[in-house]
Amino acid sequence: MKIFLDSANLGQIRKYHDIGLVDGVTTNPTLLSKEGGDPQEIMGEIVRLVHGPVSLEVISTEYEGMMQEGRNLSRFGKNVVVKIPMTADGLKAVRQLKNEEIKTNVTLIFSPNQALLAAKAGASFVSPFIGRLDDIGEIGMDVIRDTVEIFRNYKYEAEVLVASVRHPLHVIDAAKLGAHIVTLPPDVLGKMITHPLTDIGLARFLEDWKKLKQTNPKIALTT
Ligand code: E4P
Repeated sequence: MKIFLDSANLGQIRKYHDIGLVDGVTTNPTLLSKEGGDPQEIMGEIVRLVHGPVSLEVISTEYEGMMQEGRNLSRFGKNVVVKIPMTADGLKAVRQLKNEEIKTNVTLIFSPNQALLAAKAGASFVSPFIGRLDDIGEIGMDVIRDTVEIFRNYKYEAEVLVASVRHPLHVIDAAKLGAHIVTLPPDVLGKMITHPLTDIGLARFLEDWKKLKQTNPKIALTT
């Protein structure tokens, strides 16, 4: 399973990229607005830093505007994926951008039917928002289950990119269902790394090593 970071925070992206955990990045206008500053600069920096796909979202809601913004965003780098909202104009733009060899990620997907149409339009990535469905009492993971099955049935090229992830359990469920990608807020990725028993175990190992050193001060693991 590929792991993308759902963030426009350069510090967090660098941190997890340096560990080798970032296969790609997704951004959106909300994430960029949290950072302040010049969004163009931030987007450019992310595209340079991360080698994998970086989703940059259009603001226009009309076909022509989406096309212009999509073409502009794609000039940031070869790894740019243009994020397009799941609307009729959006689907038209996805098809045309594919004709121009520009990859797209269809965002704001909340049903398997929307995912099916986005895949048929030629999207490279399809992003169901599971957390926002859970928030209104629907089971977001059901959309992932159905979408994975539909894409398998028809061998669609589009990858299922699980978005709006709220906690590590979402990741486990998505992985069990065979989703291609999860895009994670940095804090969720951080929580996946740690476990209280790991901390307790490590503290005990270090304590025991200290005891060993007291009996023989010369021991070391380095020369
Ligand atoms: C990713 O592409 C989405 O923009 C993001 O996961 C949305 O998450 P949210 O529902 O936490 O805003």
